Amino acid sequence: MAQIRVRNTGELITGEENVRSFLDRFEVLYEHWDTSKLPAHLVENFSLSDENKQEILDTYNAEITDLAARRGYKTWDIVVLSDATPNIEELLKKFENVHTHSEDEVRAITAGEGIFVIKGNEEVGYFDVVLSPGDVISVPEGNPHFFTLTDVRKVVAVRLFIETEGWVAHPYSDPEFAK
Ligand SMILES: [Fe+2]
Repeated sequence: MAQIRVRNTGELITGEENVRSFLDRFEVLYEHWDTSKLPAHLVENFSLSDENKQEILDTYNAEITDLAARRGYKTWDIVVLSDATPNIEELLKKFENVHTHSEDEVRAITAGEGIFVIKGNEEVGYFDVVLSPGDVISVPEGNPHFFTLTDVRKVVAVRLFIETEGWVAHPYSDPEFAK
């Protein structure tokens, strides 16, 4: 279940309805997939073979095709990040820069945890959406953000894309963002 930390105020937003209504204000998609569908050998498994990754995609095929039909995604894959990922420190440093994309950025967490740091309005500033398995989120097209790991330092997520060009990150220089 996702939680939100508002960076400017330190406010913590918890509980399904509170999280949903907050994210609605910023047009951030927030849905859930049933984590009990995942076969036991894939639960909290961060060393996935290509076959394992395909098993995850097959497990959630109905959810993926439903989301794709509603929102126009054409390709999807699995991303795994952990301390076993080559150059993880460098990768995280690269990730932790505010940027935008020409399409929305959708992630469905299937293991571990992740954080989307998202720019809200002037009043709210930046907020962190802390995600756990079953959480599905999409940052709107053009909305400044970045993705990173929690202290758990491990995540498995399904990514869905409309066009390959949409993957490109455009740096967003923002004096209002404080790390
Ligand atoms: Fe991004």
